[in-house]
Amino acid sequence: MLEGTKIKTPSQVSSIFDIAKDTVLFLLLSCYYILESLFWTLVPNALRPMKSLKGDVVLVTGGGGGVGRQLAVKLARIGAKVVVWDINEDALRNTCSALRDEGYEVASYAVDLADRDAVYKTAERVKKEIGKVDVLINNAGVVFGETLLELNDKAIETTYKVNILSHYWTVKAFLPDMIETEKGHIVTVGSVAGLLGTYRCTDYSATKFATVGFHESLFTELRAHGHSTIHATLVCPSYINTGMFDGVTPRLVPMLEPDYVAETMIDSIRKNEVNCIMPGSVRYLLPLKCLLPSKMCWDLMHRVMKGPQSMMELKRKPQAA
Ligand SMILES: NC(=O)c1ccc[n+]([C@@H]2O[C@H](COP(=O)([O-])OP(=O)(O)OC[C@H]3O[C@@H](n4cnc5c(N)ncnc54)[C@H](O)[C@@H]3O)[C@@H](O)[C@H]2O)c1
Repeated sequence: MLEGTKIKTPSQVSSIFDIAKDTVLFLLLSCYYILESLFWTLVPNALRPMKSLKGDVVLVTGGGGGVGRQLAVKLARIGAKVVVWDINEDALRNTCSALRDEGYEVASYAVDLADRDAVYKTAERVKKEIGKVDVLINNAGVVFGETLLELNDKAIETTYKVNILSHYWTVKAFLPDMIETEKGHIVTVGSVAGLLGTYRCTDYSATKFATVGFHESLFTELRAHGHSTIHATLVCPSYINTGMFDGVTPRLVPMLEPDYVAETMIDSIRKNEVNCIMPGSVRYLLPLKCLLPSKMCWDLMHRVMKGPQSMMELKRKPQAA
C-alpha cells in the first residue's frame, strides 16, 4: 500500500550527466530551502499559516498523565476530537473529567501498549466507534532508571514493548486509512536521551534512539512513495517536570514544564515540522558528539553538564518481577 507510487531505482539514473544534473539541481534547491527555513524561523507563529486540527480525530497514547493529558486538553480546546489511550484507568478518568469540566467530549480506552493483540483490538474499536484517526501521537513511555546489571529482564522487555514496539502496532493499524484518504500525521515522541546515551538508561535510551530510526525511516518511505500529504514529526524533549525523572536536577538545561512541551508539540504538528527538539539549544550540541574526540565529549558530559551525576539522583521505580 505504501508502495503505490514507484520511484526510480539507481540503475535507471546511472549516467555521469544525470548525476551532475541532479547535483546542480540539489544545490539550487538547497539555497531555496535554507532561505525558506530562515524565513519561517523569523516569522512569529501568529503570522504563519498553521494547519487547523478542528474536527480532526487525534489519538494520544499515554493520554492519562503528564504530557499526554496536557496534549488532550489543549487539542480539545482547538477543536480536535480527542481519543486517549492509557493503561492507567484512574488517570484516564482524570483526563476525561478535566475535559468534560471544560465542556469537551473525549473518547477514552484502557489498553496496555505492551500487549500487541490488545493494541490491534483497541485500534479496531476506535475505527468502528470514532472513525478514521487523522493524527496519531505515540506519546506513552516508561522508564525504570536502573543501570544495566540492576535492570531485570522483564523491565527491559517492557521498556522495549511500550517505548518502541507499540509504535509499529499503532502505525500499522492507522496508517492504511491515512494513505487511502491521503491525509494523516504520525507523531513519534522520542527524547534527548534518544540522541545522547544517558546514564541509568541503557533500555530507555536505546528505545528512544530506536524511535529516531523509526521516524526517519517511515518519513523516507512516505516521501519516496509520494505520500507527501501524510506528515511525520519526531519530538525529542529534554527533562520534563512530570515525575517520570523524579529527583533529577539537570545542570545546564532547564526542567521543561509539561504545559510548554504540549503547546510546542501542537505548534510543531500544526506547522508540519519533521523534527522538534526541546529546548532548541540542544540541537547545537548534537553534532559535537561526532566531531569532538570521545574523551572531550565525556568530559563535557560529566564535568560540565554533570549528566550522570544528576541521573544518580533519580528516584527508583518498581520493576515488575
Ligand atoms: N518526563 C520526561 O522528562 C521526558 C523527557 C523526554 C521524553 N519524555 C517522553 O515523553 C513521553 C511522555 O512522558 P511523560 O513525562 O508525560 O510520562 P508520564 O509517566 O507522566 O506519562 C506517561 C503515560 O503513559 C502511560 N503508560 C505507561 N505505560 C503504558 C502502557 N503499557 N500502556 C498504555 N499506557 C501506558 C502512563 O500510564 C502515563 O499516563 C514519554 O514517551 C517519555 O518517554 C519524557
